[in-house]
Amino acid sequence: MRATHHETHGAPEVLRPVSMPDPVCGPGEVLVSVRAASVNRIDVLQRRGPGLLPGFALPHVPGTDVAGVVVGAGPDVTTRSTGDRVLVDPSLHCGTCEQCAAGHTAFCPGMRVVGASRQGGYAELIAVPETHTHLVPDHIGFEEAAGIPAVYSMAWQALMVRGRLRAGETLLVHGAGSGITIAAVQIARRHGARVIVTSASEEKLAKMAKLGADVTIDHGKGDLAAQVREVTGGLGADIVLDHVGPALFQASLASLRTRGRLVFCGDTTGPTATFSLVGAYHRGLTLIGSESHDHPTFADMVAWYWSAGCEPVIDSVFPLAEAAQAHRRLESGETFGKILLVP
Ligand SMILES: NC(=O)c1ccc[n+]([C@@H]2O[C@H](COP(=O)([O-])OP(=O)(O)OC[C@H]3O[C@@H](n4cnc5c(N)ncnc54)[C@H](OP(=O)(O)O)[C@@H]3O)[C@@H](O)[C@H]2O)c1
Ligand SMILES: [Zn+2]
Repeated sequence: MRATHHETHGAPEVLRPVSMPDPVCGPGEVLVSVRAASVNRIDVLQRRGPGLLPGFALPHVPGTDVAGVVVGAGPDVTTRSTGDRVLVDPSLHCGTCEQCAAGHTAFCPGMRVVGASRQGGYAELIAVPETHTHLVPDHIGFEEAAGIPAVYSMAWQALMVRGRLRAGETLLVHGAGSGITIAAVQIARRHGARVIVTSASEEKLAKMAKLGADVTIDHGKGDLAAQVREVTGGLGADIVLDHVGPALFQASLASLRTRGRLVFCGDTTGPTATFSLVGAYHRGLTLIGSESHDHPTFADMVAWYWSAGCEPVIDSVFPLAEAAQAHRRLESGETFGKILLVP
């Protein structure tokens, strides 16, 4: 098969199209003909190096988000057939450890992630356990489907599972062009929340307003918390989703109402945040770190997605052989929505 991999860490040019043997399915695995794969930040971080996930090895075929068609099966496959249109849950838990037995698959020490610590979707074919495939309904295209896994599972986990977002609440989320933010807006609006989105880009905020954000704020202009209070009757947001990290962490806390919740799940602007302790405890704030999803949570999220009527937001589509170009696009910071690769 054809694939795009990197044998070393470095600039986008290390991504090279190659021929490699077709994957061989083990027991319970299906062979999927990849029709679309999306590009995520983890692909770029691990391309630059070092590898971040346990089990990462060079050469590496990235691509955590895969949609395609089942074209073969290993022994003992019972639920999938040739021709099935599927989406892959990339988080492959071991199924036998204590954490898996307790249902906490996100903490499985044997976790392997498709496209992050084993071969991913920057390829024509991929072998994955049938238990981690989800049937894609006919009204959802492969490119839309491939844009779902990483960002919708993260936004769903952060908002619905960890943040316990309720109808009528006000959500504040940063980073208008981020895939997680776009997913968060679509999830929150469809669960009856009011959504405030921030960015330093007027252009991205205008697109966010079209996508359904109730209020957009340029965080580069003035005091963000004061602007949030102004549009929330002086109270502040009920919940903030922060994947940006230190650049806005203190502003996120200051934008919350008393007893508000800050759910954080990313470190785009650095690994360490500084914030006012007294500002957080005196106002009864709750800080919630959001781990990635457990196995059943992914199924809940896609089951919701299929009938949610979300608008797919696709930034750009590149041929698989031009993955380096796709990475440059992600690194430009100009994206709005998902970048896709098609074999
Ligand atoms: N916990 C998990 O399991 C998990 C899973 C997936 C992702 N993540 C993390 O979540 C984060 C977001 O992922 P993503 O794929 O959505 O990333 P992305 O598409 O690359 O978006 C990054 C966003 O960060 C914003 N940003 C960058 N620098 C900023 C600054 N100085 N001030 C304010 N905003 C800034 C940008 O805002 P504008 O659009 O406004 O320019 C951009 O939208 C990443 O850190 C990723 O590692 C975590
Ligand atoms: Zn396990």
